[in-house]
Amino acid sequence: MAEPTIPLAQPVLGEEEERAVLEVLRSGQLSLGPRLADFERRFAARVAAPLACALSSGTAGLHLALRAVGVGEGDEVITSPFSFVASANAALYEGARPVFADIDPVTLNLDPQAAAAAVSERTRALLPVHIFGYPADMPAFERLAAAHGLAIVEDACEALGATHADGVPVGGRGHPAVFGFYANKQLTTGEGGMVTLADAALKEQIDSERNQGRAPDMGWLDHDRLGFNYRLSDIACALGIAQLGRLDQMLADRARVAALYREALAGFASSPQGEGLTLPCPDTGGDRRGWFVFVVQLPHGVDRDETVRALAAVGIQSKPYLPAIHLMSFYRERFGHREGEFPVCEDVAARSLALPFFPAMSEGQVARVAAELGAVLEPTRAAVD
Ligand SMILES: Cc1ncc(COP(=O)(O)O)c(C=O)c1O
Repeated sequence: MAEPTIPLAQPVLGEEEERAVLEVLRSGQLSLGPRLADFERRFAARVAAPLACALSSGTAGLHLALRAVGVGEGDEVITSPFSFVASANAALYEGARPVFADIDPVTLNLDPQAAAAAVSERTRALLPVHIFGYPADMPAFERLAAAHGLAIVEDACEALGATHADGVPVGGRGHPAVFGFYANKQLTTGEGGMVTLADAALKEQIDSERNQGRAPDMGWLDHDRLGFNYRLSDIACALGIAQLGRLDQMLADRARVAALYREALAGFASSPQGEGLTLPCPDTGGDRRGWFVFVVQLPHGVDRDETVRALAAVGIQSKPYLPAIHLMSFYRERFGHREGEFPVCEDVAARSLALPFFPAMSEGQVARVAAELGAVLEPTRAAVD
């Protein structure tokens, strides 16, 4: 009998979530109710940020955070080409241009030196992404921003639970940092997002713009600025509060699964005899990853599409993750991007494969994924040796 499929991701949802959602349904107040401020307060405390604004998605958070720091028409925003497309798109929503710079080959985050080389007279903001939950080098970006008078918005959509070497949780440095709560994230509300920040005036602006431009003390009839509908419902906030209650356990479970993978795949990792799998970089220098995905880079010459097919054939989901943003057809056509512009990103993006990764993953499931991936790689290794 075929073994059950191992999915790429699986949220942890239990009785607490059911109870929390039912309570909201019974209360009759499904939006703009008491859970909104409660979720914001608890989330801000969790990442040691003074304030937070809940929104309908991480993308909405990136959009309003960039508006709040003053990004507008004709500005440039320096960001990573190795990210989910939303981080670059958010700049375009405001008529700004996302300017890409290459990534660090180890952490896979935006390289501060490459970002510095991309600064121009039009640069308005830096938008580093904590990719795969590994902290971006914020002290370096903070120095760069101070030297050129730039704003910072952090894309922390994948990084809940990560901590910088100086002990500050990702999202707690003061400039706007954006989290995402899609179903595959460390904490989920189905869809949702959060901006954490220190500046009360920016919070007021984001709170207003997520709610059609209404000021807190205004009734239905006047709107003093352009706004959007980026609200997060009380149902989603209740889910978020319940998920916060189990966040420590879920993060610990993700770290446990990552350690199991590291052990199970050690034999296939790079060795002096020949190129092997590249595993996610270990925590270094005091930075701590908030585990989100387990992404390996296949050795050069291994057919990734074929690997995905071979794994699918034995009931294991996997996904190329992430494609380079500048090489997506929309970005190529709009900005004339071509292969070769960001060689580190392109090499990593061509070989990256996300394996099944979720808190409830068992040792047996990890072993099965490792064995099947190993079976795909074995012929290649034999050829190399
Ligand atoms: C790095 C990154 N940025 C932005 C987003 C956008 O978040 P959302 O899907 O909640 O809009 C995501 C989530 O998928 C992400 O991984």
